[in-house]
Amino acid sequence: MTSLPISFLLTLCLFVIPSLSSDSDPLQDFCVGDLKASPSLNGFPCKSSVSASDFFFSGLGIPLNTSNRNGVAVAPANVLTFPGLNTLGLSMNNVEFAPGGVNPPHSHPRATEAGVVIEGSVFVGFLTTNNTLFSKVIHAGEMFVVPRGLVHFQWNVGKGKARLITSFNSQLPGSAVLPSTLFGSMPEIPNAVLTKTFRTDDAAVNNLKSKFAV
Ligand code: GLV
Ligand code: MN
Repeated sequence: MTSLPISFLLTLCLFVIPSLSSDSDPLQDFCVGDLKASPSLNGFPCKSSVSASDFFFSGLGIPLNTSNRNGVAVAPANVLTFPGLNTLGLSMNNVEFAPGGVNPPHSHPRATEAGVVIEGSVFVGFLTTNNTLFSKVIHAGEMFVVPRGLVHFQWNVGKGKARLITSFNSQLPGSAVLPSTLFGSMPEIPNAVLTKTFRTDDAAVNNLKSKFAV
């Protein structure tokens, strides 16, 4: 068997790598996800019969209960709640804040996020991989963007409620929420790892674990 020249393989990589940088392009008009089937390599198989209701979703307008420790609630419109998004490479969230509410630091491994403030005043920030914080207080009608995978958060700094609509270039962006990832995992991250990482002791780590245990 003859081996392929290295220049050919490098050229092939140039074409393949960009196509892996976000959800793949659809190969048909739509493919409403059949959530009863097992997900295939990258999404759900298509439902065999569809109707208009597969392409509409009213879950972003339902008022959310923000009476929780963070004072925030999120309703996702992603492929799992709105299967019409399957293969289309996008999704949205409705995010509501009580006064002072915080959407804690988190990242979306599979998507860039763009958002718009619908109500209130929100301190929005993201961190680069060299720990620079970019942040601003924004108000109704103003928009922000969080580059893919970067840690970000929002804090309601207005007097009343606040609300954001966010959007993602993935049908299922995923969310790694730092406090629960580190202190609420199952099985737990060993204390030896966390005490050294945070330069603290078992008591402090156990205290945090007790707050995020699932
Ligand atoms: C906000 O950061 C969101 O993920 O909806
Ligand atoms: Mn986010």
